[in-house]
Amino acid sequence: MKKDVRWKKFWDNRKSKLASDYSNIHDIYIQKRGEMLSMFFEYSMFPANTPKKFLDLGAGTGAAGFAVLSRFPDAKALFVDGSEVMLAEAVKTADKNKLKISCLLRDFSSKDWLKGGGIKPGYPLIISNLMIHHLTDRRKAVFFREIRNLLAPGGLFIYGDYLRMADNKTEDYQCELRALDILKLKKEHGWKVPSLKDEIKSIKNTEIKSGDMAPTPGFVLASLRKAGFKKTAMLWFYLKFGVFIAVK
Ligand SMILES: C[S@@+](CC[C@H](N)C(=O)[O-])C[C@H]1O[C@@H](n2cnc3c(N)ncnc32)[C@H](O)[C@@H]1O
Repeated sequence: MKKDVRWKKFWDNRKSKLASDYSNIHDIYIQKRGEMLSMFFEYSMFPANTPKKFLDLGAGTGAAGFAVLSRFPDAKALFVDGSEVMLAEAVKTADKNKLKISCLLRDFSSKDWLKGGGIKPGYPLIISNLMIHHLTDRRKAVFFREIRNLLAPGGLFIYGDYLRMADNKTEDYQCELRALDILKLKKEHGWKVPSLKDEIKSIKNTEIKSGDMAPTPGFVLASLRKAGFKKTAMLWFYLKFGVFIAVK
C-alpha cells in the first residue's frame, strides 16, 4: 500500500480504539504532549479588526483546536480531517464542553482538497498538529503554499508535527530516548512494559503502518520560507516533536 494512503486505514478505523481513547494513548506516545499543545494556546491570536475564526487542518479529535478554543471560546472553529471516526470524537468533546465547532471531511493528500467549497481565504489563524507528516515531501511543500494562500495578510500558521533528524545516528538516538520515555510512562500508567528493543521495534512498525513521512526541522523551515511566509521560527522541540510558527 502506498505510504500516502496508509493514514486512512490507520486513523479512520472504527474497530481501533485510537479515536475513542486518543488522549490516553497519546499522553504516552507523544512525550510532553501538554507542553506541545500549550504552544497552540499561547501563540494563537486574532489581531484587532479581523474575524475571530480559525482552521484546524488534520484536527482529528481536536486536541490542538480545543487548546485554541480554551483561550478563545467564542472563536469560529472549522475542524478539517479525513477521518469521520476522529471528527466524531471531536464533536462529542465540543458538545460536552458546550463549544461550537464545524467539521469538514477532506483528504489533504489530494490536490483537490479545497474544491467543493466550505473553505475560503481570509483566515487570521490556521493550525495543524501531527498531521502533515502523513503527506509526501512534495505535497507538504504545496500544502504550505495552500495554507499561506488561505491566510489573511499578517495571518499566523502554528504547526506541530512528528519530526526526524537529518542524520541517521542522531535520529536513532532521539528514537531511543523517546522509547525510554515511553517505557517510563507505560510503567507509571500501569501498562505492560516491553523491553527497550521491542519498544523501538514497535515505534518503527507504527511509522510504517500509519505511513509516516516525518520531515526534518530544516525541511520545514526552508519549505515554509519557500512557500512565501515572511517570518518563520521553531517554537518548541522535544525528542521527535516540534512546533513551528509562520507569519504571512
Ligand atoms: C495524530 S492525529 C492528530 C490529531 C490532532 N491534530 C491532534 O493534535 O491530536 C492525525 C490526524 O491526521 C489525519 N490525517 C492524516 N492524513 C490525512 C490526510 N491525508 N487527509 C486528511 N486527514 C489526514 C488523521 O485522520 C488524524 O485525525
